[in-house]
Amino acid sequence: MRSLQVVFVALNFSGVLAVSLVPFTSTAVSLTDLFNNQAASVSGSGGNFDGSGSSYDVTLLPTGVWTYDGISYELPWDDGTHGGNDNVVTQSQALTLPEPTTLHEIHMLYALDSTQVDTAKTFVFHFADQSAEEIQMSAKAWWQWPEINLGVINTPYSFVNQTSVKNLNATSIFQWSASVPSRSALESITLPPDTEPGSRLHIFAISITPSAPSSSENVTGLILSIRRAQFSTRWAQVNETRAQAVQVTLANLLPISALSANTSINSPYTIEISGPTVSTVVSGTIKRLVPSDQVSVDVLVITNGTSNATVTIKDEQGTVVGLSGGWPAMPIPAEWTADPELLGTHETPTWYNQAKYGIFVHWGVYSVPAWAPEGTYAEWYNWDLHNPPNSGNPFYVHQLDTYGPSVVYDDFIANFTASKFNASAWVDLFDSAGAKYFVLVTKHHDGFALFDTGNTTHRGSVYMGPQRDLLAELFHAAKEKKPWLHRGTYYSMPEWFSPDYAPYGFSEWPGGLARNVFYPSELEPYTGRLNISDYLADLQLPHMLTLAETYETEIMWCDIGGPNRTPEFAAQFYNNAMAKGLQVAINNRCGAVPDFFTPEYQTLAAIQTQKWETNEGMDPFSYGLNSNTNASQYKNATTIIQTLVDVVSKNGNYLLDVGPTAEGEIIAPMANNLLAAGEWLGSSGGCVYNTSYWFKGAQDSVNGTLRFLTTPDTFCIVSLVQPSQTLSVNTQIPILLGDEIVYLGDSNTEVSPLAWSTDPNTGYLTVDLNNVRLNPIGGAEAWAFQVRYKAR
Ligand SMILES: *[C@@H]1O[C@H](CO)[C@@H](O)[C@H](O)[C@H]1NC(C)=O
Ligand SMILES: *[C@@H]1O[C@H](CO)[C@@H](O)[C@H](O)[C@H]1NC(C)=O
Ligand SMILES: *[C@@H]1O[C@H](CO)[C@@H](O)[C@H](O)[C@H]1NC(C)=O
Ligand SMILES: *[C@@H]1O[C@H](CO)[C@@H](O)[C@H](O)[C@H]1NC(C)=O
Ligand SMILES: *[C@@H]1O[C@H](CO)[C@@H](O)[C@H](O)[C@H]1NC(C)=O
Ligand SMILES: *[C@@H]1O[C@H](CO)[C@@H](O)[C@H](O)[C@H]1NC(C)=O
Ligand SMILES: *[C@@H]1O[C@H](CO)[C@@H](O)[C@H](O)[C@H]1NC(C)=O
Ligand SMILES: *[C@@H]1O[C@H](CO)[C@@H](O)[C@H](O)[C@H]1NC(C)=O
Ligand SMILES: *[C@@H]1O[C@H](CO)[C@@H](O)[C@H](O)[C@H]1NC(C)=O
Ligand SMILES: *[C@@H]1O[C@H](CO)[C@@H](O)[C@H](O)[C@H]1NC(C)=O
Ligand SMILES: *[C@@H]1O[C@H](CO)[C@@H](O)[C@H](O)[C@H]1NC(C)=O
Ligand SMILES: *[C@@H]1O[C@H](CO)[C@@H](O)[C@H](O)[C@H]1NC(C)=O
Repeated sequence: MRSLQVVFVALNFSGVLAVSLVPFTSTAVSLTDLFNNQAASVSGSGGNFDGSGSSYDVTLLPTGVWTYDGISYELPWDDGTHGGNDNVVTQSQALTLPEPTTLHEIHMLYALDSTQVDTAKTFVFHFADQSAEEIQMSAKAWWQWPEINLGVINTPYSFVNQTSVKNLNATSIFQWSASVPSRSALESITLPPDTEPGSRLHIFAISITPSAPSSSENVTGLILSIRRAQFSTRWAQVNETRAQAVQVTLANLLPISALSANTSINSPYTIEISGPTVSTVVSGTIKRLVPSDQVSVDVLVITNGTSNATVTIKDEQGTVVGLSGGWPAMPIPAEWTADPELLGTHETPTWYNQAKYGIFVHWGVYSVPAWAPEGTYAEWYNWDLHNPPNSGNPFYVHQLDTYGPSVVYDDFIANFTASKFNASAWVDLFDSAGAKYFVLVTKHHDGFALFDTGNTTHRGSVYMGPQRDLLAELFHAAKEKKPWLHRGTYYSMPEWFSPDYAPYGFSEWPGGLARNVFYPSELEPYTGRLNISDYLADLQLPHMLTLAETYETEIMWCDIGGPNRTPEFAAQFYNNAMAKGLQVAINNRCGAVPDFFTPEYQTLAAIQTQKWETNEGMDPFSYGLNSNTNASQYKNATTIIQTLVDVVSKNGNYLLDVGPTAEGEIIAPMANNLLAAGEWLGSSGGCVYNTSYWFKGAQDSVNGTLRFLTTPDTFCIVSLVQPSQTLSVNTQIPILLGDEIVYLGDSNTEVSPLAWSTDPNTGYLTVDLNNVRLNPIGGAEAWAFQVRYKAR
């Protein structure tokens, strides 16, 4: 949280630019008149957030004026003596602003009453010039289970059935900030339409940040504001020093109507941070910031304690144009402990944020049957075979027809041979595919490990089947041949049928030996099991620590969550990584302390500033190889690239899965599609890797065909349909006279950049494509245009 921000304004006429630096302000908008639901209660009484009588515990919620990310909200709760409605269930109500105002940004505290994944919600903003614009929110559920979905306010449980009975899943309230179109004053907002309980959007508080100056004033130069200065847990090695990254976000508060070269940063401005415990090692550089926009830059610092830091902005001549003080300096913890609050500050590393594209590999004993009805997860073969154990079940029928009644799942272990597994060939493929990391399934819900599990269990490839340490081979090949490829490990927290999991079992992971589907009086073996006394202490935690410390995984990509010792693990994972100079991440399926969250076979409709990663198979709906899927159904280069670009434009990464054969081959139809997408990335990756989402939106309209991405030097427009003679962009982007535009799929345009113009009335861009060869690279239908900023 930010202490009182002190801003020193230096009115500086450098060149022709007058620059003022002003505080970033926010004003609460009263929602009281629209309140129609009671979300929080004392002991459940009267609360009915979700339509089924559940509520937050009001005594655990903050009250009054509450600040997060520099934004002040007026919370609806008082001193805990609670009664009555405290939030708005959106039902297409009109929220009218007290007076029409040109806005820079809008901020909300909200939650969905769903317990499912993110859901798109559409707001309609109405402006004084009679125009309207749809703004998309990717809204998060108030709790999720067994995955974790943490917000900015979290409580450890909810009340159910309007009683004091507790559901012990942590509940959350989330924060959302979005850019507001500033060409005209905002008059009102139509809130998203009503839906059934279970996917309704609840809004607790809204605040707004106006543009500056008000439209009656004359614009004589830049009006800048520090949106945030966030001391992160990311670091970079600078010579002998490990320097902490501070993400500084700068806003240009002028409305878009003021856009011109002299209301924009259009030459390198540097950002430095100083203070009693902070000194800058490498300053940040901002080359372009137009009215109504925001950009973020890392400043690398040494921080040796907590204090209040000052951000200094200098223009291209090195003249100080403004100072802003009061930013809390917080060093990276020297030692991580199992304190969830401390672990909660951990973030995904810079490499992960920049990598964008990873290959997921589901390979294991399920690769032997490699079968599921179309649209079913083949790696779930053993669970599905047993549920239900009768001839109405297609898995049961398939097993009986193919292998007869006497073959059980563990009989497949012998046929999981890995006989053609060539780790070197795999990493070559990942690299040629354009991926920057990979995640191997090291143990799925069947409990069969692909790494050395030592004395915890011998259920794994080292002790049975191939008698090889498959994870070690793959990681070793990557380290040796493609050291820039980052290495991750999927790990299933529970096991379906482990006797040791029985004390912890839940829903589809009950633990306990499987009952033979054809001979129901018999239990199936759990081959390789060793005697342990506690699954978490003697198997799960040691496995995770082994993956971290012996194999040096950089991503602990857990699955399912549930019972865990993850805080303890995470502390050791981070301490071990720091000692080795690695930066690592864990996902939201380890049961606690997530760094990023993981929509499955799903992408998000809008920018989500909390880091996320979509994962899905190349198969239409399976991670493990499914021989029942026709290869023509695999995601082709177009689908891969369009999904990747869409996801990245919304702040996500894309983890695309392949399912190798039991022999260890990634079959040609999968490999070929990866390579074709890799060809596109080879020419156009400059609009994917190392990019950031654009503050003003990921795409040109709700269902638009363009995606926008930014870097410090460029602005990218990726078209997901083939443009004809011209490329038209119906929104004002940060382009200024003198900039070049190149099409990344045609080396000719590198030599002669494309002709472009902006409409004098709308400011919209048109690019002349008459001399461009638009053949899709690698067959991937996506066309990347890069605006290259040129200083005045
Ligand atoms: C809540 O009420 C429903 C319907 O009466 C009941 O089925 C359910 O078991 C109750 N839940 C708890 C946790 O008491
Ligand atoms: C979370 O909710 C699920 C589904 O209602 C329930 O089965 C589970 O026991 C809850 N978890 C905890 C820790 O209460
Ligand atoms: C804006 O500029 C015009 C023309 O230069 C001037 O007459 C007017 O006083 C200015 N308004 C303000 C608020 O400075
Ligand atoms: C800003 O630029 C416009 C043209 O783009 C020019 O008319 C105006 O005089 C400039 N203002 C300042 C303060 O330089
Ligand atoms: C790192 O070392 C190089 C070579 O000695 C030097 O030029 C550079 O200034 C150093 N960088 C920093 C941030 O100290
Ligand atoms: C902490 O950092 C500040 C600023 O870089 C420096 O002046 C001070 O000497 C440092 N103190 C310690 C104890 O290292
Ligand atoms: C930062 O400044 C605020 C307000 O001036 C003060 O209350 C706080 O103690 C300061 N923090 C540190 C670590 O110096
Ligand atoms: C194992 O492979 C052999 C040889 O291909 C085959 O005959 C047998 O049916 C397979 N058994 C199982 C359980 O997969
Ligand atoms: C493994 O793949 C590499 C290509 O990376 C190839 O050079 C090598 O010959 C292959 N090894 C075998 C045993 O096929
Ligand atoms: C496995 O070996 C380690 C190290 O020798 C030992 O600390 C641990 O207790 C053993 N675990 C089991 C389950 O035997
Ligand atoms: C790629 O796949 C998409 C989605 O299935 C399909 O619409 C498109 O026609 C395919 N493209 C090619 C070139 O096969
Ligand atoms: C966008 O697409 C979705 C899904 O196809 C559709 O429901 C929605 O109406 C579309 N919105 C607009 C503005 O076209």
